[in-house]
Amino acid sequence: MFISTVVIITLMSCDRKECSKPPLNPNGDSELALLMRSMFDDGMKFKTAVENNKEYKLTFDADKLLTAMATEPEKVQTQEYKAYAQQMINIVNAQKTAGLGQQSEIYQDFVQNCTACHQQLCPGPLVKIERLNLSK
Ligand code: HEC
Repeated sequence: MFISTVVIITLMSCDRKECSKPPLNPNGDSELALLMRSMFDDGMKFKTAVENNKEYKLTFDADKLLTAMATEPEKVQTQEYKAYAQQMINIVNAQKTAGLGQQSEIYQDFVQNCTACHQQLCPGPLVKIERLNLSK
């Protein structure tokens, strides 16, 4: 009984989940993880605006994608990561100056970018990201 409990705990701690390793800093989550959460929240507001044909301007700081400390720093050093991050920066910049008529198209590029980077580098949050898909 005791031994099997130990084995289970050991197995669980070896189960390395994508992008959810314990934070490296004692203060909690990585800077990038916090940025991602604000991107998701901002994205949900953007989605509601698009569905209601209302104006919305994204507020998160996309430039931080290139500088924020990540839980697994080696992941964000890759060319793939940098390319997707730069694409997101371009989308956010375009969104800032786009008119209402272009919002829906930009929104789809936005969600596509989240999805593409996550498919390549960290599939864990994809389930959550799917909530950004437009219902229609
Ligand atoms: C350039 C690649 C890239 C793009 C683009 C990207 N992500 Fe991420 N995302 C990551 C990486 C890497 C992590 C792991 C962060 C960490 O733990 O330090 C992450 C983590 C997350 C998490 C988990 C955060 C947590 O609580 O630990 C969520 C949710 C998330 N991303 C949502 C999104 C959404 C929504 C978008 C689009 C608006 C997006 N991501 C765009 C790479 C990306």
